[in-house]
Amino acid sequence: MEITPKIQELLQRLEEKYQMEGQQMETYLEGLVYNNYLDYWDYIHLEALINLQHPRTDIPDENIFIIYHQITELYFKLSLLEIDQILKHPKLDAVYFTAKLKRLIAYFTNLTHSFEIMVNGMAPEQFLKFRLSLLPASGFQSVQYRMIEIASTDMINLVEHPFRSECAVKNSSEQYEFIYWKKGATDAASGKKTLTLRRFEEKYKEQLTSLAKHHEGHNLYAKFKSLSADEQSNPALLAALKEYDGLVNVHWPNVHLKSAGRYLAKPGKAIAATGGTNWESYLPPKIQRRVFFPSIWDEQELENWGK
Ligand code: HEM
Repeated sequence: MEITPKIQELLQRLEEKYQMEGQQMETYLEGLVYNNYLDYWDYIHLEALINLQHPRTDIPDENIFIIYHQITELYFKLSLLEIDQILKHPKLDAVYFTAKLKRLIAYFTNLTHSFEIMVNGMAPEQFLKFRLSLLPASGFQSVQYRMIEIASTDMINLVEHPFRSECAVKNSSEQYEFIYWKKGATDAASGKKTLTLRRFEEKYKEQLTSLAKHHEGHNLYAKFKSLSADEQSNPALLAALKEYDGLVNVHWPNVHLKSAGRYLAKPGKAIAATGGTNWESYLPPKIQRRVFFPSIWDEQELENWGK
C-alpha cells in the first residue's frame, strides 16, 4: 500500500492530537481494526425511537396522539438549539440573527401546518375515551415550551397580561411568580391551582427558576436590544422577529386552540380538559396577549394581537 502525502499528513495530525492528551496513536489505530461499521439504525437510535410509544389504552388513535406530541417536542428541541446558537454568538449581528430566526420560523411553520393532524387526524369518539386515562397529564406540562418562552423574551412579557404594568417595577424573580401560566392554571371548578400545575412545579420549579435567572438580560429580545441602532433597524431582521413572534404567540396557539375546540367544545358547556384549566378563557392568544418583542410592533398591532 502506498503511503501518500495525504495519508502522511493525516497521520501527522493524528499524532499531534493524541500527543496533546498523552495518548499513543498506534493503540487508537489498532482499535480501528476491530471497530464495527456504524449503521443508520444505531446512529439515530431508531429502535429506541420507534418504541417510545406506550399507550395507556388499546384505542388505536392514542398512538397518533403520543407520536404527534413527541414530534412536537423534537421541534421544540430544535428551536432551543437554534436559540442557544443566537445567544452564544460572540459577535451577533443582524445577518446571523436573521439566518437563525429563519430556522426557528421554519420549525414553527411546520408545527403550525402539521397541527392539522391533531385537528382532524383523530376520531373524536376515540379521543374522548383515551384522554380519560391520561389525567391529569396535559401539554401544559411541556417544559420545553416554557423554556422557549423564557429564552425568547424578558420576564415582564410573560407576566399575565392584566398584571404587566403593575409588575414592571418588580425584579424578574418577582415577575416570574406572575407568569401567565401559573396565574392561568386555576382549576375551572375550585379556582385553586390545578393538580397539573402543582405536579409540574414539583418537578420543574427549581430548573425553571434558575433558567429564568440565567436568561435575565440574556434572551432573544435582550440580544436584539443590545444591537447597534443600525442593526436594530435592519428590515430583514425586523420581519423575521415579527414572523417568529406571530408564529409562537398567535398562529401555533390558534391551531392548538382549534384542536381543543374540535374535541372539547360542546354546545352549552365545554368538556373539561385533562389539565383542568378553564381552557376556553385561558388558551386564546387574544386573551393571553403574549408578545416576545413588543417594541417592534405598533400600538394598533398590539391592540389587535391574536384577533
Ligand atoms: C387533540 C389535541 C389537543 C387538545 C384537545 C389539547 C388541549 C389542551 C388544553 C385544553 C390545554 C389547556 C391546559 C389544560 O387544561 O389541559 C392545553 C395546553 C397545552 N397544550 Fe394541548 N392539546 C392538544 C394537543 C397538543 C399538542 C400536540 C401539543 C404539543 C406539545 C400540546 C401542547 C400544549 C401546550 C404547550 C399547552 C400549554 C399552552 C399554554 O399554557 O398557553 N397540545 N392543551
